[in-house]
Amino acid sequence: MSPISRSSSQPDVGVLLAAAGSGERVGGEPKQFREIAGVPMLLRALRPFAQHPRVRQLVIALPVAFVDAPPEWLETVVSGRLRLVAGGATRAESVLAALRALDEGCSTVLIHDAARPFVSYETIETVIETASATGAVPCVPVSDTLKRVEEGSGRVVETVARDGLWRAQTPQGFPRDMLEAAYKRFGEDGISQLTDEAALCEAAGYTVRVVPDSGRNIKITTPSDFLIAEVLAQR
Ligand code: CTP
Ligand code: MG
Repeated sequence: MSPISRSSSQPDVGVLLAAAGSGERVGGEPKQFREIAGVPMLLRALRPFAQHPRVRQLVIALPVAFVDAPPEWLETVVSGRLRLVAGGATRAESVLAALRALDEGCSTVLIHDAARPFVSYETIETVIETASATGAVPCVPVSDTLKRVEEGSGRVVETVARDGLWRAQTPQGFPRDMLEAAYKRFGEDGISQLTDEAALCEAAGYTVRVVPDSGRNIKITTPSDFLIAEVLAQR
């Protein structure tokens, strides 16, 4: 598709941002509000979506205390296309709360973790294109040697061949009908065991395709990840 035909497409993509965690492993204020090189992590995660012409609406699941008193930089970035909802006790519940608040005109849904502040415009573009027909999950090939280990004893049971193994990142994208049907099938109790929305759609029998992603699109989980993030942000 040429850039011209793409930009003339109607905005029909809804973006759900999972930003309702408490960031316990980092400590202090919820990590999504912490600055990386002077810019809050949530703002970094949000900006490339807000800039995409296909994006019609952004729904952010926030910790309940922040829904009525959000940081003022949020609205300036998305100019009227933003909706804030209270997240749930788990990431899966937060995503579902955001999906329920999504405008009917969004036929493709992208789900992104606020803890991934280095998502590229190119990844977003490819996920949107793929997600018009199937599930799309941005991944990087596994490069470490993998060991299966006996719980408790620490004994290595086997070395797992890494051929064909990929690490899943976000944003994951889906046709809205597919995602809603998968939720309906598993119900609210069923989703708590699944670690991402791709797993939900796979379990429901839908096709999910890999979109090769960059290793830069890291998830900020621990205090040392913020050190890496400061370096990445300088480049
Ligand atoms: N998340 C969410 N709702 C929750 C839990 C997590 O929206 N109830 C979001 C987080 O804000 C984050 C993403 O899901 O953007 C990935 O979760 P994780 O990295 O585990 O973040 P936290 O849950 O905040 O961190 P921790 O597990 O250390 O408390
Ligand atoms: Mg967590």
